[in-house]
Amino acid sequence: MNEFLMNEARNINYKVIPISIEGKLTMHDKSILKNIFNKFKVTDIKYDISESEFNLFLNCVDFEKLKETILNYKSEKISETLLLLLDKIISELDSIKSYGLKGKKRLYVGYDKERKVRGRKEKENNRNRYYYANKSDFSTINNEIPQVYINKILCGDSLDILKKLPDNSIDLIFTSPPYNFGLDYESNEDAHDWEKYFNKLFSIFDECIRILKYGGRIIVNIQPLFSDYIPSHHIISNYFMKKQLIWKGEILWEKNNYNCKYTAWGSWKSPSNPYLKYTWEFLEIFCKGTLKKTGKKENIDITVDEFKKWVISRWSIAPERNMKEYNHPAMFPEELAMRVLKLFSFQSDIVLDPFNGVGTTTFVAKITNRRFIGIDISPEYCEKAIARLNTTLF
Ligand SMILES: C[S@@+](CC[C@H](N)C(=O)[O-])C[C@H]1O[C@@H](n2cnc3c(N)ncnc32)[C@H](O)[C@@H]1O
Repeated sequence: MNEFLMNEARNINYKVIPISIEGKLTMHDKSILKNIFNKFKVTDIKYDISESEFNLFLNCVDFEKLKETILNYKSEKISETLLLLLDKIISELDSIKSYGLKGKKRLYVGYDKERKVRGRKEKENNRNRYYYANKSDFSTINNEIPQVYINKILCGDSLDILKKLPDNSIDLIFTSPPYNFGLDYESNEDAHDWEKYFNKLFSIFDECIRILKYGGRIIVNIQPLFSDYIPSHHIISNYFMKKQLIWKGEILWEKNNYNCKYTAWGSWKSPSNPYLKYTWEFLEIFCKGTLKKTGKKENIDITVDEFKKWVISRWSIAPERNMKEYNHPAMFPEELAMRVLKLFSFQSDIVLDPFNGVGTTTFVAKITNRRFIGIDISPEYCEKAIARLNTTLF
């Protein structure tokens, strides 16, 4: 791009997006490009074209209008080269996930200025960020897990089995405990008095915290039992905070399903006691000792596109559809485990699921080159988890 244009981009505040042209644009193509961009203000969006490079100068744009305009011109007689260029323009813009909004326009420049906080670091220190966890005295010395436990499905009560594992030896725990909904699991009941339920769960979580490495993460998928008015996700999060883990955040797993009929509980069309409906579950993410996890660069397997998509912490993933096939009432889908593992762990890390069910976590850990340990109290589920691992080719 020439210097004049660079200066202009700086002065008028454009974001410049270079796009390569594959082929040669005809005069007709060029006049079509002109017609498309004439529909927009030059101070919002414009372009410069040279032999093999097309530079988009972007300040703000009504993206839907741009897409529609381009679509209209695509029906005209245009060359393959222009067709490809127009597709690239749309996909480049679509891949920009950080922008402000003003009416229908996406703002690409200066939209985040007003949110800049002067002296942010000092203010953070004054506020005492994650005050509930910053006096924790977890050991920073991590240990190796004995070989006998690696890549194994272990059958039994997690409370007993976890006690055998060394302190600070697990990189990532991803799990979905029984929710106490009254589901029909093979080997245990799922409807206890709530206090008894949480006491048992917390004694298992105490072991999880102990065996987690310094810098390790525990991620719990949980759906509260709304009909009992028990916010399990808050209760569990509070427990981890009391144990001085750092709350890294929360992912909303949007399942797009409805969990009850309108009239199942509460009042119908009356403020007396309306029942709120949820189509999502939560993933609560906690870190031991530090937010940063160490790992080798060559063991990162998340792609740029996956990273950009998944750090937006509302994940739209359909519920698992094969629960009948596995005869398990509460599996999570492989896609959920895949995202968690790739976003929060490195290849060859040790991943543990202490409520492994039919082995979704351990299966995904295996196919993504992590080492794993899965525990479940049901021998039938453990057998299925092992059979599932054996379906992989390696
Ligand atoms: C919500 S399910 C997990 C399902 C799993 N995520 C999957 O996709 O297959 C909870 C599992 O915890 C197991 N479980 C319940 N209490 C347990 C305990 N004390 N120790 C180990 N597993 C237990 C149940 O058998 C059940 O399979």
